[in-house]
Amino acid sequence: MVSIFTTALAQHPTGFTSFKTGENWLADDGLPIDCHGGNIIYVAFLKTFFWYGEHYGKPRGAACYSSKDLYNWKNEGVVIQKGDIEVFERPKVIYDKINKKYVMWFHYDGNNYTIAELGVAVSDKPTGPFILKNHLRPNAHESRDIGLYVDPETDKAYIGYAADHTNLTIRMVELSGDYLNVTGNDVDIKAHCEGPGILKKNGTFYLLTSGCSGWTPNPGNYYTASSIMGPYEKKGSPFIGDAGDNSFNSQPCYIFKIPGYKNAYLYMGDRWNGSGSPKSQYVFLPIAITPGGQMELHFYREWDLNIFTPEKK
Ligand code: GAL
Repeated sequence: MVSIFTTALAQHPTGFTSFKTGENWLADDGLPIDCHGGNIIYVAFLKTFFWYGEHYGKPRGAACYSSKDLYNWKNEGVVIQKGDIEVFERPKVIYDKINKKYVMWFHYDGNNYTIAELGVAVSDKPTGPFILKNHLRPNAHESRDIGLYVDPETDKAYIGYAADHTNLTIRMVELSGDYLNVTGNDVDIKAHCEGPGILKKNGTFYLLTSGCSGWTPNPGNYYTASSIMGPYEKKGSPFIGDAGDNSFNSQPCYIFKIPGYKNAYLYMGDRWNGSGSPKSQYVFLPIAITPGGQMELHFYREWDLNIFTPEKK
C-alpha cells in the first residue's frame, strides 16, 4: 500500500517556467532528471508530453518522465530494464495510432559495441512496461546511434542509424506500417556521423548530427535533402558562435517539433561530460530555419516557449 507520506513526497513541485541550458534539472521527486540520449513525444489524447531516455541510476534501462509544459517533469519510473543487455542506449518511442501501441527502438549492444543491433520493445501505455520483442541488424548492417522520425504527412517512420565499419556511414531505413520491423527500403546516406536528429520544413529534410568522438563533444553538422532517403548535402555546423566548437558542449539526440507553435523545433542534446551518468545534463535549445533555408542554433543560457509564435486556434 502506498502511504500518504510517499504520495506527498512524490508531488514535490518544481515550478520551472523556462529551460536553463546545461543546469541541474530536477523532476517532481527532487532528483536530477535521469533520461539521456532519448526523445520526447506528445500524446494528444492525454494532452501530455512523455520524455524517454537512458536511465543511468538503478535499475538501468529506459526512463520515462511526463509533463504538461515541457519544463516540469514527473518521474514515471524505469519503463524497461536493460537486464542482460550490456549496452542499452538512445531509446526512442513513437506511438502507433492504428494499433494503439507505444513502440520503442534503441541501440542494443555489448560492452565492446560489436553486436551493433537495434532493439524493439512495445507497450500498451506510454508509461510502460515496455516488453522486448526483437533485436536485429537492419538488413544485416551494423547499427549504433539512432534517430527516429515519423513523417507527419504519411505517418511512415524511419530510423537513421550510424552503421557499418563502426559508424563510417549513416543509413536510413523505413519501418513497417506497425513500426515493429524494418523494411528493405534502407539506404546509405553517406555521412560519417552519430546522434542523428531529423526535421522537415517546406518539403526539405534536415538531418542534424554529431561527429564520432565517443562521449567527447565535437562540432555538429547538418545535411539537407528533398527526400528522407536522400541524397543529402552537407551544410556545416548550425551552432552559431559555438565558442568551444563542440555544439555548445553537447551531442544531439533528437529534434522534437513542439505542437501548438509555428515552426517550433526543439534541439535535444546531451552534455555527457565524458560519459553517461545519472547527472549528465541537457542542452535544449530552439532550432531556427532561416528564410534562406539554413539551420541555426543560437545559444541561450535561459529561454522559454514565448520565443515561438503560437498557431492560430
Ligand atoms: C557516442 C554515442 C553514445 C555512446 C558513446 C560510447 O559516440 O553517441 O551514445 O555510444 O559514443 O562511447
